[in-house]
Amino acid sequence: MIDVTEIQPGVDRFQVRKPMPPAQFDALSREILALKKKLNAVILAHNYQVGEIQDIADYVGDSLGLAQQAAKTSADVIVFCGVHFMAETAKILNPNKIVVLPDKDAGCSLESSCPGPKLKALQDTNPNFYTVTYINCSAEVKALSDVICTSGNAVKIVNAAPKDRDLLFVPDENLGSWVMEQTGRPMTLWKGNCYVHVEWTHASISRIRREFPNAPLVAHPECPKAVRMLADEVCSTEKMVTYCKQAKSPQIIIATEAGMLHRLQKECPDKQFIPAPTDNCRCNECRFMKMNTLEKVLDCMENLGPRVELSPEIIQRARLPIERMLEISARP
Ligand code: 13P
Ligand code: SF4
Repeated sequence: MIDVTEIQPGVDRFQVRKPMPPAQFDALSREILALKKKLNAVILAHNYQVGEIQDIADYVGDSLGLAQQAAKTSADVIVFCGVHFMAETAKILNPNKIVVLPDKDAGCSLESSCPGPKLKALQDTNPNFYTVTYINCSAEVKALSDVICTSGNAVKIVNAAPKDRDLLFVPDENLGSWVMEQTGRPMTLWKGNCYVHVEWTHASISRIRREFPNAPLVAHPECPKAVRMLADEVCSTEKMVTYCKQAKSPQIIIATEAGMLHRLQKECPDKQFIPAPTDNCRCNECRFMKMNTLEKVLDCMENLGPRVELSPEIIQRARLPIERMLEISARP
């Protein structure tokens, strides 16, 4: 069996994952598709998942798109290929459905930076706080929030927040500072970050820009300000697809997690995507997103587990701020 963590040798920044051998992919995907039919399941995958998972999914997208898909699915079983907080969001929106994920240990550095009791203690210091919470957090933290946002709708959500409240933005300080720049709205920022996106530096990005002076740079808002300042476009992973489809340049530099390259290459086969280098090699892969493999997708469907289970009380309290986000997002 192939080790999917194996990386093809080559120049550091152009390292790509070896695709699974076609025969193995065909055998696994046949079994998965047959089980999907039997279970009346839907497979949702984030843009950072390994290519093989993206290729068998019913829907591939960003956190917002995945939450929207989860909110409207008629499937009995949701197979969520992403990280744990994303699968939890699907469960909160579908308390009566079975939600399984390939690896229950697929966490997120942002989620772990913000434990519920610590957030509660900060909220208690100011009764006028209105808590805008990035979706990358636990269900417990969602339950303490006024509204949820994703990188795709954070500006819209903050613009819609009550003007007479003091905004508390958790847990990503980089996304939060970008949203402050975009909206002009001051916010108290939680000091969390994505351990992958903070690997890009002003120096590493300047180097690649000098090497490809005509290639625009697209960066995720989880990148630090020194990197965002060098970008032509700062946006969520789904908006990257739209930007790249419309871009005139045949080459585009991408500063986000490496799985995005698979999606972009599929959507824009005539363009070359250059993964922005970090100062160390292989740092642009999220170890949590990459815990999921096609074998584990099949296993979790066969076993109907690991499952996401949440208390009815947490589901009830966490659902409101997610529904508020979906409602604001749907506004013209
Ligand atoms: P998107 O919502 O832009 O897909 O981002 C999710 C994420 O985890 C970024 O690191
Ligand atoms: Fe969390 Fe960063 Fe991984 Fe996204 S890339 S899931 S923010 S650790």
